[in-house]
Amino acid sequence: MSDWLALDNLALAYDTPRGVREVVRDFTLGLAKGQIGSLLGASGCGKSTVLRAIAGFEPVRRGQVSLGGTVLSSAHVHCPPERRQVGMMFQDYALFPHLTVAQNVGFGLRRQPRQASAMQVAQMLDMVGLAEAGDSYPHELSGGQQQRVALARALAPEPDVLLLDEPFSNLDVDTREHLAFEVRDILRSSGHTAILVTHNQAEAFAIADRIGVMAAGRLLQWDSPYNLHHHPRDDAVADFVRRESLNERRAAAQNRRL
Ligand SMILES: Nc1ncnc2c1ncn2[C@@H]1O[C@H](COP(=O)(O)OP(=O)(O)OP(=O)(O)O)[C@@H](O)[C@H]1O
Ligand SMILES: [Mg+2]
Repeated sequence: MSDWLALDNLALAYDTPRGVREVVRDFTLGLAKGQIGSLLGASGCGKSTVLRAIAGFEPVRRGQVSLGGTVLSSAHVHCPPERRQVGMMFQDYALFPHLTVAQNVGFGLRRQPRQASAMQVAQMLDMVGLAEAGDSYPHELSGGQQQRVALARALAPEPDVLLLDEPFSNLDVDTREHLAFEVRDILRSSGHTAILVTHNQAEAFAIADRIGVMAAGRLLQWDSPYNLHHHPRDDAVADFVRRESLNERRAAAQNRRL
């Protein structure tokens, strides 16, 4: 199967007062249409930077980003973010508080005929189980409901790929688990291609077809959840998978005791 989203030997850097700082290098991955990928790794390893480059917010120093066979970014090409069919759902990418739920979901459809847009909004709200909430304002909804509205808003323009950057991290453990599965089902049934960045390994293993373990700006392994567990490429990956799942089991046990 050919890759729908392809990152080839990507290098990404920030200009800082102390000079150029390369934070992602030799980064190669491919994702088929309709698949869900996930990036895992310690804080600061470059996960959000990779997503921002796919969305077009970071220039590419070397290598390229392509989607559906079109090069969007390289050292010579830069398709601006608003011309990419990329949807985003970030933890701090809040809903507009002064707009209703329906207006939030329809935000990316402003240029479409009113009737088509209204139909799409209704369909999206139905998909995330909030058909009745169109006239509510964000503050009238729970955190989990707000994230579902954010998902509907991101999917309404039918993006070629959806990027999720720790979208559940503000939620309590139960809502978070529940919503993660719900989001997976919505993405699967609508056939969307997506990349989820998370700190939570259990979440990645529950949702993703392909998981990438990152460290210090590099992708150590990009593989199926099964292979990551059973055939880690090296000790670093094996340690990461083992350590994280141990931490999560400890946290879960602690939660149960509370
Ligand atoms: N605007 C910026 N200017 C300079 N350096 C930056 C900038 N944004 C991020 N960095 C640096 O780039 C590296 C990667 O950051 P990034 O935000 O991609 O990490 P991350 O894996 O998403 O971390 P987290 O899990 O904490 O969200 C970090 O070392 C960070 O300090
Ligand atoms: Mg981040």
